[in-house]
Amino acid sequence: MAMNEKLYSRRNMMRLVGGAAAASAVLPSLYSATTWAPNDGKKKIGMIVRSTRPEDLEMPMEGFQDDITPVERLFVRTHHYTPKVNLATWKLKIGGLVDKPLELTFEQIQKMPKVELVAVMECAGNGRSFFKPSMAGLQWQYGGVGNVRWGGVKLADVLKLAGVSTNGVEVLFDGADVPVGQQSDFQRSIPLTKALSPETMLAYELNNEPLPTSHGFPVRLVVPGWASDSWVKWVTGITVLDKPFEGFYMKSAYRAPAGPVKPGTAVDAAAMQPVTRLHPKSVITFPADNAKVKVGETVNIRGVVWSGNGNPVTLGKISLDGGSSWEDVRPITYNGPYAWRTVGYTWQPPAEGYYRILLRAGDHTGESQPHVQAWNPSGYGWNVTQSIGIEVVKDLDSAATPANTAAAAAETPAPPAGFKSACVTCHEDDVIRQQKLSRTQWDREIDKMARWGANVKPADRAAILDYLSKTYPPR
Ligand code: HEC
Repeated sequence: MAMNEKLYSRRNMMRLVGGAAAASAVLPSLYSATTWAPNDGKKKIGMIVRSTRPEDLEMPMEGFQDDITPVERLFVRTHHYTPKVNLATWKLKIGGLVDKPLELTFEQIQKMPKVELVAVMECAGNGRSFFKPSMAGLQWQYGGVGNVRWGGVKLADVLKLAGVSTNGVEVLFDGADVPVGQQSDFQRSIPLTKALSPETMLAYELNNEPLPTSHGFPVRLVVPGWASDSWVKWVTGITVLDKPFEGFYMKSAYRAPAGPVKPGTAVDAAAMQPVTRLHPKSVITFPADNAKVKVGETVNIRGVVWSGNGNPVTLGKISLDGGSSWEDVRPITYNGPYAWRTVGYTWQPPAEGYYRILLRAGDHTGESQPHVQAWNPSGYGWNVTQSIGIEVVKDLDSAATPANTAAAAAETPAPPAGFKSACVTCHEDDVIRQQKLSRTQWDREIDKMARWGANVKPADRAAILDYLSKTYPPR
């Protein structure tokens, strides 16, 4: 097929399988020979490890320099351990409110009309670490996001092949991953209207290469314009439902209040709504916060801006004086309404001094980034206008260097008996060390882990709570 010729050139195939003998192989056997995706061998570069297992990796700030995020830099978010899928036995089942329930092989999916689209994938919790007061969860800064070229089939084509009923309300997705301990299975649903929308895809390629295992090999859901909690990986089952799905990851997790709530309060899940679309957001990618530049030199400021829901992002505005006045930025790259846009501004600092620079994105509906972020209990959707400080100095060499903060790293006390066997079994302690929680929040966290199967002996619990609240207190 034409699409295979384009993407899987002879040169490309040889590189993927690493041998001349395989060059004549047809595509399906290239895949079925293995239970992992060929580009899993690519090393991640400089990622911030939020959790070793389940695997959660954040893109470092340098990653924003790439217009299309390479897989080596793409953030990874995983609720359960990463499954290895065997293509020889893998099938995609489509059922529920459909005329003809289907079971598709990977080869059958590849024979369907192929689409490609560049879309921002952003974790709902990206920026969680900036919320005050802080909350439990992976402490993402800016890099829980990437801009990727997805290749695959329209979900609508698959649903139509199965004869989807117009009485459908939601479409539910399940993946090959299995819960850790007593966790609930990671299953998510999206409204049928979004499922049938032409941008929604079942992707089997990431940047023109097979989807790697950590990103959902062989097939993942791609929901452009929406946060990636909906982008189910390792998809094995699709079910058309006549009512909203009631599972844990829809009814308890990934929910936020519709309006403002008092920061730090717990809100009943029933009073919240599922996280759906992304909103306008920007990141200043050069220079770095607190950089020093020499007076008289030109500064090429760069940033990326994106929006949500397919509402095209506007160019954005930049302020060089802490938000008093705003100017237009210059477009650099643009890959469509679901992608991020790279923008620039050539700045000639007028004099020595300290400057506060802000970049603010908006979309064509008139929505723009907030200057103050509304707090929500799980820390979703952080998109406040970012600001950085720049010091313009006479001479770079003579500029005072910031105080050495290494000495400030306090010594942490040794964990109590029972901590390791209770808390460092399903995951490493990396996921714990990044938290900054009150005693009440730690108390809740221990309860949550016990529900998931943590073996917290009653005699050890008080000491564990004491240790966690003293070692990892609120900021
Ligand atoms: C039965 C397995 C299991 C045990 C034992 C366990 N955890 Fe977890 N924990 C998990 C899983 C799985 C996640 C990741 C959940 C996700 O990413 O969706 C997690 C995540 C976390 C997080 C990140 C924030 C969050 O709530 O997702 C913290 C903090 C944490 N665990 C603390 C602890 C502490 C403290 C203990 C000991 C009392 C503990 N865990 C024991 C399974 C476990």
